Amino acid sequence: MTTRVLKHISELTTNDPSLGDESALGRLFDAAFVFDDDQVLWVGPSSDAPDADEEIDAGDCAVVPGFVDSHTHLVFAGERSDEFEARMAGVHYDGGGIARTVSASRAATLDDLRRGTQKRIAELFTGGVTTVEIKSGYELTTEGESRELEVAREFSDEVTWLGAHVVPPEFTNNREGYVELLKSSMLDACAPLAKWADVFCDRGAFSVDEAREVLTCARAKGLAPRLHANQLAHSGAIALAVELDCASVDHCTYLDDHDIDLLSASATVATLLPGAEFSTRSPYPSARRLLDAGVAVALATDCNPGSSYVTSMAFVVALAVREMAMSVDEALFASTKGGALALRRGDIGHLGIGARADFAILDAPRAAHLAYRPGGNVVATTRSSSRD
Ligand code: NIG
Ligand code: FE
Repeated sequence: MTTRVLKHISELTTNDPSLGDESALGRLFDAAFVFDDDQVLWVGPSSDAPDADEEIDAGDCAVVPGFVDSHTHLVFAGERSDEFEARMAGVHYDGGGIARTVSASRAATLDDLRRGTQKRIAELFTGGVTTVEIKSGYELTTEGESRELEVAREFSDEVTWLGAHVVPPEFTNNREGYVELLKSSMLDACAPLAKWADVFCDRGAFSVDEAREVLTCARAKGLAPRLHANQLAHSGAIALAVELDCASVDHCTYLDDHDIDLLSASATVATLLPGAEFSTRSPYPSARRLLDAGVAVALATDCNPGSSYVTSMAFVVALAVREMAMSVDEALFASTKGGALALRRGDIGHLGIGARADFAILDAPRAAHLAYRPGGNVVATTRSSSRD
């Protein structure tokens, strides 16, 4: 196995509090680290760096852990830019356009789906993402959801079954029939292909009781639960996520004090998706209230053709800082370690000894440039152990 030493890092964020300045971000200056094909082996001052098979000069640039994008819908066909334009002119987002992507995705070939997913993965990777969660949810039939999961599995181990995205048009007058299908043949076919189960539990999608039924059944078939909640309205979905010990509850656009109390006493991460508020012109979630209450927060792109066609985690970080009163360090932590927590992974989202050697070298002396230069190409090089 080849060892490499990356030296002359102006600012190294490890997210390991036992390293560097002993803050949550475990920061070191004029730093170096050694890694092999899989993991980080040594971290310390550049001047103390041990020899390795190869030496790489970071050129006094900053290095951060690879972004963990813990919420995406990358497998789809078509686009809905007309809906975006209509929203910018005042139309409200209600998820109704999901049916258009379902229809385009059903009509696409497997190769079309694969190519589109590959293209979006490449954009994410160029922007520093080294782990990506991918959901199904745009075919809503047993065969269609299975093939979306098969495509997702070609690109990630973090694959989520979202058969309960919305009730498809052919079941409009028989939603009980669709919930039955989800719980029987669709789950039987999809459970072996996924790690997670998700439900869109919100106004116009599935109720709290339906979501509980589907996720309980999915859990019995080996899938771990997560939930889309409170994107469009207040509901009991946050309480459900905590009740089911979901790894993450996502969106959290509408939260009351009780929701925040429940989350702060739980192991459920609140995953915020400001690309969706940006693209739907909705109010941003209360990140400050969550953080001040001690809730673990993650940031992710929610990349999908309807509410958030965003493939840049740096843009998400910039939105969190500019619009949600998160500090740059809080946003960086939420988009790396926070994402790892939302996937219940200890080996990613940080650069402590033994972590996967997944990182981004920035074309900047400080990580703050991720938010300070929005829209710029701040990530110069992405390195992922799973791509070597
Ligand atoms: O996370 N909220 C549900 N699903 C997606 C949007 C899907 C779409 O509009 O195509 C989301 O925002
Ligand atoms: Fe989503």
